[in-house]
Amino acid sequence: MQCGYFDRDHREYVITDPRTPVKWINYIGTRAFGGFVDHTGGALICKDDPTFNRITKYIQQMPASDFKGETMYLRIHTAAGYRIFSPFFVPGLDGFDRFECHVGLGYTRILSEFYGLRTDVTIFVPPGGTCELRDIKVTNLSTTPIPVDAIPLVEYTHPDALKQFTNADWVPQTMQSRAVDDGGCKILLQYPFVYRDTRINYLTSNVPASSFETDRKCFLGENEYGSFKLPLSLLEPELTNSQALRGDNIAALLHPLGTIHPGETHRLITQLGQAATLEAARPDIDRYRSPEVVEAELNTLRAFWDRYLSVFQASTPDESMDAMLNINNPYQCYVTKTWSRYLSYYQLGLGSRGIGIRDSSQDVLSVIASVPEEGRDFLLTLLSFQKRDGSAVHQYNPLSMEGSVGDSGDMEDRPHYYSDDHLWTILAASAYLKETGDQAFLDQTVAFFDKDKTGRTLEYGTVLEHLHRGLAFTRRDVGKHDLPLLGFADWNDTVNLPTGAESLFTANLYGAALKEMISLFEHLGDESNAQAYRLAYEEMKDRVEAAAWDGDWYIRYFDAEGNPLGSSKNTYGRIFLNGQSWPVISGFASPERARLAMETVHSMLNTRYGIKLSAPGFDGYDPKYGGVTTYPPGAKENGGIFVHPNPWAVIAETMLGNGNRAYEYYAQINPASRNDQIEIYQCEPYVYSQNILGDEHAQFGLARNSWLTGTASWCYHAATQWILGIRPEYSGLRIDPCIPSAWKGFSVVRKIRQMKLHIDVYNPNGACKGVTRMLVDGNDSPGNRIPYDLPDGDHTVEVWL
Ligand code: GLC
Repeated sequence: MQCGYFDRDHREYVITDPRTPVKWINYIGTRAFGGFVDHTGGALICKDDPTFNRITKYIQQMPASDFKGETMYLRIHTAAGYRIFSPFFVPGLDGFDRFECHVGLGYTRILSEFYGLRTDVTIFVPPGGTCELRDIKVTNLSTTPIPVDAIPLVEYTHPDALKQFTNADWVPQTMQSRAVDDGGCKILLQYPFVYRDTRINYLTSNVPASSFETDRKCFLGENEYGSFKLPLSLLEPELTNSQALRGDNIAALLHPLGTIHPGETHRLITQLGQAATLEAARPDIDRYRSPEVVEAELNTLRAFWDRYLSVFQASTPDESMDAMLNINNPYQCYVTKTWSRYLSYYQLGLGSRGIGIRDSSQDVLSVIASVPEEGRDFLLTLLSFQKRDGSAVHQYNPLSMEGSVGDSGDMEDRPHYYSDDHLWTILAASAYLKETGDQAFLDQTVAFFDKDKTGRTLEYGTVLEHLHRGLAFTRRDVGKHDLPLLGFADWNDTVNLPTGAESLFTANLYGAALKEMISLFEHLGDESNAQAYRLAYEEMKDRVEAAAWDGDWYIRYFDAEGNPLGSSKNTYGRIFLNGQSWPVISGFASPERARLAMETVHSMLNTRYGIKLSAPGFDGYDPKYGGVTTYPPGAKENGGIFVHPNPWAVIAETMLGNGNRAYEYYAQINPASRNDQIEIYQCEPYVYSQNILGDEHAQFGLARNSWLTGTASWCYHAATQWILGIRPEYSGLRIDPCIPSAWKGFSVVRKIRQMKLHIDVYNPNGACKGVTRMLVDGNDSPGNRIPYDLPDGDHTVEVWL
């Protein structure tokens, strides 16, 4: 089953069947104002924060046949009465002649044909703006004139999104709406009473509305049990013009679009926004009533994406890899950087979770080439959640900037820190420095998180000092085998062994971070720091190699008593993917062990839909292991195909020179390759999902938790820097591809610093790896690194394997 197709020329995915297994979404705006729009026109919109300033009531768990947050009705006047339907398919579910939801870069366009009318709606937030625009065009495709009314509808939530669901007394008593006539156009204002004079939501449009509704009861005719499928008020000529004094607030505007003649198009632009007061909203309201302004804003948005994507464009023998690398994957990286794991169709943004230090540090990795300043600023914020002891607070709320210990707070008897959080920022900072050469970054001052009773920061340090402290923490914080203690968890959030357990993942992440610091200090000519870190690296390498080899693969954890998990001694959780890929990435694994460990990954963990995180899955809840055992075998971290670590296996394979296998692993998780198996896969084929059910589960192949996942950043990183091998280093751009032997070559345009490089790679002899010759601007160039000091502008690079 297929629900749509990729339109690469327009950089869109086009959904042609609205009956997707779950709603498929797209993002608009930013965290300052925006949210997501689903393919049936529903939208979850918030300003600054989805927990404390949410605007639309979007309940992910309600059935897909419902509209969520926003919709629109069209009403055709016929001799037999009104025909009422939604051009978004839900909630009317009428039969349609055509349905297309174009998932674009920062906008969604829904085009549908019902009852002789084509409706074409483009939905987006103007760059930097604080309102959602819907540019609506209704065209008569039939041969007879059609009188039409358009009734856009918003269902509001209390801004405190959790209160909306936990309090049905206070919330309805405080919600209010008011209508303002604006020369025929109407502005509907909505606010909880406390915000009446300081923060209002508004819905307005650019054509006169003959009536309006703000009270859901009146709109639906709830006393007669009217429903959203058929709101009874739409059977009357006009809405009741109620200004809600309490209760469930909505905003509906009835626009008589008049009689649309055959071939004619009538247009309507709506705005849903928030401002301090109506006066403050005025300039926007006036501005966005102009179709020219709305079109110009959409072009500004397009220009942003042109620029963003132009930094890396690839042309390989695999078209679907090209589409991922040139469009969808970098788009998802930026969306994920923006929303962290906060707000999606699966992550409800209800306050339990904010921005994760671990997660966002990884997200930063893959946006810095396009938006280095944004990456740097975010990284500085993340570093300010590092404590003086070097460890980091697990997550923070971006509105209050309060830190929290995450799920570790739920288990009294376990440590309240994560052993990996503070190490990821080292990887991100190094990537930023290599991309930009901005060494002054290292000297910038950032607060440590610790504060005194009055809330004053206790200590500041340079960025470099923060990085040192992170490494020092891990070096100190070790257990029985002198390996890093697990804390509450490492990257695998759900294995929560009792206090005293050790983590091989953290040991290897520490190794990878040390490698970064060694190259940094070599580059800076600081031999004493470089040497100190070389020693620390060797020290941890020896411990890992002495303790963690199980015979055919590496052990993943030791519990406090020194018993292994991820070993042939275990019945469940005998082998873990990250246990194998990371010793290769850190460089701790000897060549022989690296080869064997990755072979075992292939034989024990690989499936046709991706590599499983571990096997076999635990079969029953066991508090000793914690969260992982709450899942049935094959789901999520318990033996599921957790997609995020798959690109780590890709990177490890490229490090071993196995271009064929690296590509096989990359291609098998490309969501585009599931486009014709939507009945199995279910999620959007245009972005990565966090997890896919593994082969121990009856629904093997079913994906969930799309969009906000570290998968985006790492798949992009693995493909661009390790398969295609275009990798920024401190002193130049390394060209070191590791590709399938069947590829005859590929080309890439990469912008870095002041240069625009046109890179052609030739593979005449069917190699996977190993550059034998490089020409830069036609001249032989030794090695395979392009120095950063070439003159500004375009250069050609030819590389032979
Ligand atoms: C989720 C979390 C991430 C964690 C991963 C594996 O994606 O956001 O922090 O590393 O699960 O448990």
